[in-house]
Amino acid sequence: MEAKAIRQKYLDFFVKHGHSVIKSAPLVPDNDPTCLFTTAGMHPLVPFLQGAKHPAGNRLTDVQKCVRTGDIDDVGDPVHLTFFEMLGNWSLGDYFKKEAIDMSFDFLTGAENLNIPLENLAFTVFAGDEDAPFDAEAYQMWLDHGVKAERIAKLPKADNWWGPAGVTGPCGPDTEMFYWTGDGAAPEVFDPKDKRWVEIWNNVFMQYNKKADGTFEPLAQQNVDTGMGLERITAVLQGKKSCYETELFARIFAEIDAIRGVEAVPAADRTASERIIADHLRAATFIIGDGITPGNVDQGYVLRRLIRRAIREGRKLGVQGEFTGRIAQAVIAEFGDVYTELKDNAEKILEALKIEEKQFATALEKGTREFEKLIARVPAHIQKKVISGKNAFNLYETYGFPLELTIEMAHENNFEVDEKGFAEAYAKHQELSRQGAEQKFKGGLADHSEATARLHTATHLLHAALRKVLGDHVGQKGSNITAERLRFDFSHEEKMTPEQLAEVEALVNDAIKRELPVVMEEMDVEAARESGAIGLFGDRYGDRVKVYTIGDVSKEICGGPHAGNTAELKSFKIQKEESSSRGVRRIKAVIGA
Ligand code: ALA
Repeated sequence: MEAKAIRQKYLDFFVKHGHSVIKSAPLVPDNDPTCLFTTAGMHPLVPFLQGAKHPAGNRLTDVQKCVRTGDIDDVGDPVHLTFFEMLGNWSLGDYFKKEAIDMSFDFLTGAENLNIPLENLAFTVFAGDEDAPFDAEAYQMWLDHGVKAERIAKLPKADNWWGPAGVTGPCGPDTEMFYWTGDGAAPEVFDPKDKRWVEIWNNVFMQYNKKADGTFEPLAQQNVDTGMGLERITAVLQGKKSCYETELFARIFAEIDAIRGVEAVPAADRTASERIIADHLRAATFIIGDGITPGNVDQGYVLRRLIRRAIREGRKLGVQGEFTGRIAQAVIAEFGDVYTELKDNAEKILEALKIEEKQFATALEKGTREFEKLIARVPAHIQKKVISGKNAFNLYETYGFPLELTIEMAHENNFEVDEKGFAEAYAKHQELSRQGAEQKFKGGLADHSEATARLHTATHLLHAALRKVLGDHVGQKGSNITAERLRFDFSHEEKMTPEQLAEVEALVNDAIKRELPVVMEEMDVEAARESGAIGLFGDRYGDRVKVYTIGDVSKEICGGPHAGNTAELKSFKIQKEESSSRGVRRIKAVIGA
C-alpha cells in the first residue's frame, strides 16, 4: 500500500468513527517556548487536551507535519528522519481506553483496513510505578481481542509513558503496537528488545499534566492521543527495511541522480550522503514553507544547519553547482497536493534556499581548506586531538560553519571539538554568559510556562497600544514568545519614532499599573466580531473562539494561556524596533521578572 492510500484510509476510518479531520498545524508551535518545532500530532492540541473546547468537536484526526531535532545527527542511517508525518486520532474527554484499543485493533487487522495478520503483531503496556498503576485494563483489552499473553510486554515509564511534548503539559501511560519485520514467522514470545519488532503505533492515555516542578497532577479530562509515523508504517507494510526505500523518497532520490548525472540505483543501495540530502532538504523545504528563513538562532539556526549539512554532503558526492532548489522542487511536487502551503510558498522556498546556498558555497570551500590546515598542524602521534573553541568559533564566524558541522568534520578525522571553549568564544562575542550560549546552541529553553503566559498578555497589551498610537491599520503578522522575551510582527510601513515607542511603552505600563483582570470568554466568531475583538485567525479554530478581554484596553481572539491580571507583568520595556519584511515592523520586548 502506498503512503497516499494509508493517509486516506486512516482519516476515512476515523471519520467513520465520528472524528473530524483537522488541518496539520504549522511546524512552528504557536506558544510553546520549550520546543522549537511541532514534535507530535498532539502538540498543537495541548490547550484542548487541557480542557479548552475544540470547535471541531471532541473526536479529531489528522496528519501532522513534525520535526524532531534530537535525531539530526543520526540521520544518514536507514531509520532516522528529522521531518516526518504523523497520523493521529484524539479523544478530548470523550472515549477512553476501550474504544481507542478497539479502533486501533480494527484499523490494524481489519480486512478493509490495513489487514495485518494478528500473528505479526505484538503489544506493550505500562507496568506501573509510583506515579501511575500497572495498566491492567489495556492488558486485558488486548487479551480480549485474542492477543496471546506472550505477545504483550509490560514495560516501565522509559518505554510506556508518553509526553509531555515539551517540558510540561499533558502526558500519560501508553500502549504501543509492534510489527514483525524479520524474515520468516514471528517468534511466539514477544521480545521488545528484538529490533525486528518495529513500533508502528502508540496510544497514549493522557490523564496527567506534568508540572514545572516535575510532579504529575490529574488532568480535568481523560484524553486519548495516538500517533502513527507515516513513513514507518508505509515501509513495514511494503516489506521495506527503510522508509527511504518507499515511494515517499523516490522522486527526491531521482532528482539527486539527475543532478549528479548518474544512472538510477536500486532504492536499497542509497548511501548515507544521499539520505542526509533527502531528509535534510525535505525538512528544510517544509520549514521554509512555514515561514522560517535561515538564521543564527532558534528555528532559523536549525534550518541553516540542515541546509549547510546537505550542501556539504552534496560536495562529497561530487556535486559542485547549486542544487538545493532542485531537490526542493521535487519535495514540492511530491507533497504539494497534501500540504498546499508548499505550492503557495514555492517561490519563497526556492529564493531562501538560493540565498543560503550562495552564501555558504564559497565559504564552505575556504572553510574546508582552513579546517584542513587546522588538523594538519596537529602531529599524528597526539592521542587526543582537539579543535580549540577559538578555532571552531572562527569557522562559525568567518565561514558560517554551524558548530555541529565542525564537530561532524572533526569526528570524521578523529578530532574532538572543545564545545565549552566554543560557547565561551561565542559568549564573548555576543556579551552573553557561557551558559547562555550553551543553552542557545542546544536550542533548549527551560520551562517558563508562567513567563510565557505573562508575555502573552503583554503581547495583547502591546498590540492594543500600537493600534492606539499608530492607527487601526496595525494588525498582527506574527508572534513568537520565548522564556525571555516577546517578539511581535505587525503591519506598519515606517520606522517608529522614539516618541511613538515611548508612548506605546507608557500605555502598556499604565495598563499594568491599573491591575486589570484578564477575562476569557468563549463565543462564536460572529459574536466575537461584533464585540470588537481583534486578531481573527480566519478559519483556523473554526467557529467557536476564545476572546480575552483586558479591562477596557484590549479584546482579542486567542488560544491563551494568559496571566490572570496585568499586575503580574510588573513592567514592560521595548528592546528593539526594526523592519521584519516589507510593510511589516518587528518589536522585541521584555517584562519584569
Ligand atoms: N504523542 C504520541 C507519540 O508521539 C502519540 O508517540
